Amino acid sequence: MSKQRVLSGIQSTGKLHLGNYLGAIANWVEIQHHYENFFFFADLHAITVPHDPKVLAANTYNMAAIYLACGIDLDCSTIFVQSHVSAHSELTWLLNCVTPLNWLERMIQFKEKALKQGENVGVGLLDYPVLMAADILLYDADKVPVGEDQKQHLELTRDIAGRINDKFGKKKEPILKVPDPLIRSEGARVMSLADGTKKMSKSDPSELSRIEILDPPDVIKRKIKKCKTDPIKGLTFDDPERPECHNLLSLYQLLSGKTKAEVAAECQDMGWGQFKPLLAETTIEALRPIQEKYGEIMDNKDYLDSVLRDGAAKAASVANQTLARVKDALGYLPPL
Ligand code: TYM
Repeated sequence: MSKQRVLSGIQSTGKLHLGNYLGAIANWVEIQHHYENFFFFADLHAITVPHDPKVLAANTYNMAAIYLACGIDLDCSTIFVQSHVSAHSELTWLLNCVTPLNWLERMIQFKEKALKQGENVGVGLLDYPVLMAADILLYDADKVPVGEDQKQHLELTRDIAGRINDKFGKKKEPILKVPDPLIRSEGARVMSLADGTKKMSKSDPSELSRIEILDPPDVIKRKIKKCKTDPIKGLTFDDPERPECHNLLSLYQLLSGKTKAEVAAECQDMGWGQFKPLLAETTIEALRPIQEKYGEIMDNKDYLDSVLRDGAAKAASVANQTLARVKDALGYLPPL
């Protein structure tokens, strides 16, 4: 029996942080051998917020090295750049024409980001989830591993696929596969170091709010030293009045590989003065092998270029078939 297919991606905006790592990439690495995988760099999504053309390509390139350094295995996974496969843009247009405007207007991320952008909100920001649906549906993905914040976009993807199938499919032959989200219980929502009630995010203006995968040890130490805590001694996961405590213990748990019960027992009598250096060392050690591997990959650009070239060709061969299927169902004249 052929393996189920997994697809996921990350926007190539800014540098990847522990939320992207624990909520997405670490999960991909863990499950990849059970699936046929497509992981990509969402550089078309990256320009839905104001962007700097001077750094877009470099961000995408660095991310490719990070995926590989984190352990994405090319024997079972294909990595590619979204804008290298033009079917993503083309299917987005077709899906746009069947997606009701009010489905997009109620997306939480759109509302949050639109608030930040003020009056000049680009159409691209509203259309972001339709492009995301196209990304997923082009690969007939069975599973989409993401963090908790993407759940609503996944539901929308399912609705859009359902609508295409209902409107244009024949009863027994759906045109598009309806995917399932894969959201793991731990690491799906890593919170800001500056506020345990806010998600860790690339767009937070304060760098102290996040730890980036490539942060050197002294920066990690400084950020953890300065992170928000509370005045209570003794650390616990389960006090709703202590969101920072929950977040920092969860980070320690995930980065150390210990169980929740082990961490709860180890830290129950600790004060912050004892815990913070422990978390800093654990984070540094967890990221060290990734950072070393990243350096090696970036020193071998020919290799990285060839990985992205092969990835785009493989992705396009799958995506173009789905696009042709959708165009056929919608009644387009095939190329003559
Ligand atoms: P992006 O770049 O915002 O996030 C990439 C991945 O990281 C996860 N994530 C987090 N997980 C836990 N805690 C956090 N604080 C945190 N911040 C981010 C996100 O849930 C996501 O899994 N729109 C997608 C990119 C995308 C995509 C797709 C994903 C475009 N097309 C198709 C899957 C399938 C996004 O959230 O990017």
